[in-house]
Amino acid sequence: MSGFRSFMLGLFVLGALPAVAMAAPENAKRNFRLYCMGCHQADGSGSPANGIPAMRDEVGHFLRLPEGRAYLSQVPGTLNTPLNDAETAELLNWLLVNLGRSSTPPDFQRYTAEDVKAYRASVPEDIPGLRVRLLEKLAQP
Ligand code: HEC
Repeated sequence: MSGFRSFMLGLFVLGALPAVAMAAPENAKRNFRLYCMGCHQADGSGSPANGIPAMRDEVGHFLRLPEGRAYLSQVPGTLNTPLNDAETAELLNWLLVNLGRSSTPPDFQRYTAEDVKAYRASVPEDIPGLRVRLLEKLAQP
């Protein structure tokens, strides 16, 4: 292969890398810092007094309900980022393990790009109301 062609091929491969690399846990952590930490805090403790719920040891409880699993992908914070569906799925999986910790079942059904795509296409109108209903359901024995 000529030097020029291998150079061009190298550029092509490099160009294709970020899309693949973005869907990695390190990037999920970085994306959390960039887009979420300002409100939710590095450890996910949030600021409950100011209406930012604590995710630490809590957020995984929503996975017990199908609407709860959808909800985590539909809250404005998760929805209104420049992240694509795959990056968002990776971010949710990361935060469930690293911030949800004990609340997240070890064998939880991980989000896929397809899940996020479907949830994004069907966002309920009243998200705060949905949260109240979900918490009521989760509190039932
Ligand atoms: C401007 C502040 C803010 C930012 C930034 C933000 N969130 Fe939130 N987040 C909230 C608030 C407030 C709620 C409570 C639900 C609501 O009122 O929307 C919430 C709820 C959530 C919940 C559900 C937890 C629960 O107990 O209801 C998840 C999951 C979540 N956010 C993920 C994210 C992710 C992921 C990002 C970054 C991509 C993010 N948020 C960025 C403010 C924020």
